Amino acid sequence: MPTGADNAVSGAAPTTSTVPPAVQLRDMTAADLPAAHALSRQAQWPHRLKDWDFLLAAGIGIVAERDGEIVGTTLAWLYGEDCASLGMVIVAADCRGGGVGRRLMNAMLARLEGRTVQLNATEVGLPLYKQLGFASTGGIHQHQGTPSSVPIVSLRAGERVRPMGKGDLAAIVDLDRKATGLERRDLLARVLKAGKGVVLDRGGEAAGFTIFRRFGMGFAIGPAVAPDAQGAKALISHWLGSNAGMFSRIDIPYESGLGAWLGDLGLPEVGRVTTMVRGPAPSRDTSAATFAILSQALG
Ligand SMILES: CC(C)(COP(=O)(O)OP(=O)(O)OC[C@H]1O[C@@H](n2cnc3c(N)ncnc32)[C@H](O)[C@@H]1OP(=O)(O)O)[C@@H](O)C(=O)NCCC(=O)NCCS
Repeated sequence: MPTGADNAVSGAAPTTSTVPPAVQLRDMTAADLPAAHALSRQAQWPHRLKDWDFLLAAGIGIVAERDGEIVGTTLAWLYGEDCASLGMVIVAADCRGGGVGRRLMNAMLARLEGRTVQLNATEVGLPLYKQLGFASTGGIHQHQGTPSSVPIVSLRAGERVRPMGKGDLAAIVDLDRKATGLERRDLLARVLKAGKGVVLDRGGEAAGFTIFRRFGMGFAIGPAVAPDAQGAKALISHWLGSNAGMFSRIDIPYESGLGAWLGDLGLPEVGRVTTMVRGPAPSRDTSAATFAILSQALG
């Protein structure tokens, strides 16, 4: 009995084959973004097509394709020579449990060989990442909502929150490197083009910063880097206060201690992910800390 494939080669009329079409991996291009966006919507993630566009332009992507249809994605972003962040790992609901997620991860990890790789794992992604050698290092709490009024946070003598200018980029990159251990100049320059920043100025020196940008259903605040929680609150409340009534999201490391404060302002916690690292953790400097990450995908 000939198979469907044999019939196709011989040009005979196709039969009803039960052999499922093979899933192939290839590099993601901008033409794949609408299909990738459809997958993230199916997974109930809030990304807009523009958010995907930003993420792919700043990184590299691999898609899984079945019979011309995109059924899986993963993206990664290279930070300096040694590190990377990995995210947007999604497999179409009707294709899960068949090894596609593992193949996508293995293919991306091969591209990132020699680098420390960080990611933020959903509960369903955790078992796969553990099997691939990722270890948990912390947690991120997702807060979001529509604040109505935001009290002013008092600053110390000599401190002020001021708009970020082009000349601040070097100081911002340096603060981000101290807080994360990552070299993210290119990424931060891109984020600043898409959003607006403010700086915590301490006696004329940049001691902290945060960036506000369009994302998903509204706006996102992050990263927020500051020497202490008071400084972080002053930075974050600048954006929440000047955009009261707008839906905003902020993803904070659990140790930031800002959760209750954000909840009181009208941004309750709505979800958690686990931060995981594969390879030596990037070394940080204690003079600046991350109070909000840039995004779950970008770290
Ligand atoms: C996480 C996800 C990408 C996995 O993709 P997948 O193609 O289903 O994964 P695989 O079939 O390659 O399975 C890999 C491993 O994941 C785990 N896994 C997969 N499906 C599972 C399920 N339903 N329950 C528990 N563990 C499961 C298993 O450990 C599995 O390894 P094993 O089969 O050797 O035991 C997919 O479930 C998904 O897109 N989820 C929604 C989006 C999401 O949360 N992505 C993760 C972001 S960090």
